[in-house]
Amino acid sequence: MRSFEQRGARVEVWRDLEEVSARAAQLFAETAQACAAASGAFKVALSGGSTPKALYAVLAAGGESATLAPPGERFDGNIPWRQTHVFWSDERCVPPDDERSNYRMADKTLLAHVPIPANQIHRLRGEDEPARAAQDYESVLSAEFGAGVPRFDLILLGMGDDGHTASLFPASPALDDSERLVVANRVEKLCEYRLTLTFRTLNAAAKIIFLVSGESKAHALRAVLADDVNSHALLPARLVAPSNGALLWLVDEAAAKLF
Ligand code: 6PG
Repeated sequence: MRSFEQRGARVEVWRDLEEVSARAAQLFAETAQACAAASGAFKVALSGGSTPKALYAVLAAGGESATLAPPGERFDGNIPWRQTHVFWSDERCVPPDDERSNYRMADKTLLAHVPIPANQIHRLRGEDEPARAAQDYESVLSAEFGAGVPRFDLILLGMGDDGHTASLFPASPALDDSERLVVANRVEKLCEYRLTLTFRTLNAAAKIIFLVSGESKAHALRAVLADDVNSHALLPARLVAPSNGALLWLVDEAAAKLF
């Protein structure tokens, strides 16, 4: 593994997605254990898409597994699931049983296999009218975190090859929203609405971990992490910068080929 600092973030470059996922699982477990011990709860927002599937499978496998840990380490699968509260960074506007649903993906790969109490799983209701679903999720966040901006213990994020993250896409209205916690964002390139946490919510997190894999992400990753300000400032992932938290990029060599 090689690592470097870029724009205030730590970037770890691992051989492939399997190593990225093993490292992410270890950090997930460590964070969960620390938060559960400190406050009795671990509040995490999951990412959608395909990249995190491998991580979720590692977490679901749990237990001791030398083969799944980064080289030289053992994966400590002792995760306090009963004290874990699960949220999402974004969701497609589809029912929970739709194959495009981020909730469905996480349920099949992880949630169905670990003992998280059902009332601690807080999905975005993609089946509802988008603006209403976003407002309802803001109410969920207020109920779970109290008034003000929720501070997640951990938010997992991915990045598209256009530099989007969560469902904050280039040139979409949500990029400019500094008031809301959750919005229904119109994504013209997809001709659809998406439900997403806003930057206001993302950047309040205690820890954000990006998982990025594959050569198709290389140019976006270079643009997002480049020091010169005018380089593709429109790439949404570039605007993820926790105001009082840690930001870590876990990427594979294919995605990091330009570094
Ligand atoms: C989603 C995700 C989205 C995802 C990126 C990367 O709903 O799809 O929240 O932001 O993380 O599009 O997706 P892949 O991991 O499939 O490349």
